[in-house]
Amino acid sequence: MITVNQLHPLFFGEIVGADLTAEPTEELRRTVEDAMAQHAVCVVRQGPITDEQHIRFARLFGPLELPPGYGSRPTSGRMAPELFFAGNLDLDGNIKPFTPANRDVAKGAERFHADSSFNPLPSKWSMLRGVECPPSEAGGDTLFVDLRAAYDDLADEMKARIEPMIGIHDFWKGREYAGLEVTEDMRARMMVPPVEHPLVRTMPNGRKAVFVGGHCTGVVGMSESEGHDFVEALYAHVTQPQYVHRHQWREGDIVIWENRCALHAATSLKTDRYRRDMRRATVNESGPEIDAYEYRRRMEAAG
Ligand code: OGA
Ligand code: MN
Repeated sequence: MITVNQLHPLFFGEIVGADLTAEPTEELRRTVEDAMAQHAVCVVRQGPITDEQHIRFARLFGPLELPPGYGSRPTSGRMAPELFFAGNLDLDGNIKPFTPANRDVAKGAERFHADSSFNPLPSKWSMLRGVECPPSEAGGDTLFVDLRAAYDDLADEMKARIEPMIGIHDFWKGREYAGLEVTEDMRARMMVPPVEHPLVRTMPNGRKAVFVGGHCTGVVGMSESEGHDFVEALYAHVTQPQYVHRHQWREGDIVIWENRCALHAATSLKTDRYRRDMRRATVNESGPEIDAYEYRRRMEAAG
């Protein structure tokens, strides 16, 4: 028997009683789809599972977005190459020392964002699994925002004003606005031209969301500074405390978030005393199972 509880007054479900070590059932798939439509973010409470069980579960909901360089980048064998890594371990699984440089790399994720909104392929969900989680006092909680509730509370004039607007999502500019120093070398190693998404997104159940976040740096038709100010004001609105839920990780948790109507942010670690091993499957709405950069290259090659 699978049950769903709501952990925040506005959103965030807790799914209890699923067994992801067993062959997934249609009941499980439907329960999770329904819970996600209602809550936008859900934690599946679960004992330890393997990467393969995690990937099998993710594929029930759409084709995987594969990590950049899938199939060509070095892997350790420690983790399935289909998964993204979020944590403080190097390829061999050793804790990365708590240096300013290592901390800076994590900074981008500490601004609220929707994963992959800078990619042309429409991202659906991310599913992050806590393999090894530091105690909450050591940092590493993850924060979530409900963009539907934030939309609902906008004044009617503002809703009408943003309805036709198109947001510009620019990975490197977002990193710069987050305070990171972005070098030409970094840009050259990862070419990410900006993409556009509507500022208001309508979910299949009819609820609307104001789609801003760390990668959304402007608005089509506005000057750069005007667009930046405009999306920053919306960002300040959606990240107010009443829309935020803080998740404290328990080992085995899989937190699933809607990238179309929720934002998330990492919180910094305070020490390198603990291992943080978090692995993420990302699913798209549709399309081939491919790494987003490879997809972009193919689109460009095809004209
Ligand atoms: C991610 C992410 C936050 C965290 O995996 O996309 O932003 O707390 N993670 O690890
Ligand atoms: Mn993220």
